[in-house]
Amino acid sequence: MNEVMMKLFAQEVKEGLSQSPKRLSSKWFYDKKGDELFVKIMGLPEYYLTKCEEEIFEQKTESLISSLIEGVEDFDLLELGAGDGTKTMHLLSALRDQVFTYRPIDISSNAIKTLEERVSKELPDVKVEGLQGEYFEVLSKIKSDKPKVILFMGSNIGNMLDERANDFLLELSAAMNKGDRLLLGVDLIKDESIILPAYNDSLGITAEFNLNLLDRINRELGGNFNRRFFKHTPRYDKQKGVAYSYITSLADQDVRIDALDQSFHFNEGDRVFTEVSRKYDDKALETITNHTSLVLKNKIFDSKEYFCDAIYFKE
Ligand code: AVI
Repeated sequence: MNEVMMKLFAQEVKEGLSQSPKRLSSKWFYDKKGDELFVKIMGLPEYYLTKCEEEIFEQKTESLISSLIEGVEDFDLLELGAGDGTKTMHLLSALRDQVFTYRPIDISSNAIKTLEERVSKELPDVKVEGLQGEYFEVLSKIKSDKPKVILFMGSNIGNMLDERANDFLLELSAAMNKGDRLLLGVDLIKDESIILPAYNDSLGITAEFNLNLLDRINRELGGNFNRRFFKHTPRYDKQKGVAYSYITSLADQDVRIDALDQSFHFNEGDRVFTEVSRKYDDKALETITNHTSLVLKNKIFDSKEYFCDAIYFKE
């Protein structure tokens, strides 16, 4: 992490642990260890999200493509968050006859480089140009005036609270021109018996992923969290359709963080809120897209209808 990010991390940890109830942002999950754990999560039997969206990309490619690029020629295919590219490869392969440039955007230059290499190797005909940086900063700097087709997959939007998701989509739609397209991947509201195990897998990988945040604070900010006295405790709110992750303190304890020159007290049972994973239905989608100039054109589902790729046109 660069110095600016380090400062922000320290500041957010300080603020989050001083609040009542305590909170830490899930954006700090993704250090090297966190990235590796998330890759493992995507392969877990309980974590259906990736598999369902992959099925859409594999088996509904034609409908995806026709809604996404109908009437659009020579476009920029922008992907927010590069990922490992597995889902996108299906789409890129099916788009081979089209004229377009694939531009994955990610904060990690490493992720971009790996993806560029993968695309060049597996699909040498596809023009690929990775862009490193924050999404909106990169979008504002793109010189091209070609039509944009934007991919924001994996239900990443669900990791934002509704108000923030709405602001995010407002900003995104402001960066788009009339006729530009957005593919928004969202996990759908369904029974708790399917959702909760996805956030509480039997191998404990998701618990590791959540608790890695404490290790990260220990490593990078000189904290002395003792993992044995904390537990991963996810919850699903059926009424709202939202999965929440928490880290619960198993004892009365004080934790010192050297970089902040401060200690934080935890009572037994205190919960630190770490992540929101919203699930969607039409109403929830409406909530996050109202006030934007994005108009819903199509929804494409996997065979179990667990997941949906929603396609919007900018008006
Ligand atoms: C990245 N994001 C969509 C994942 C999710 O399902 O909310 C992050 C995750 N957290 C726990 N497991 C996976």
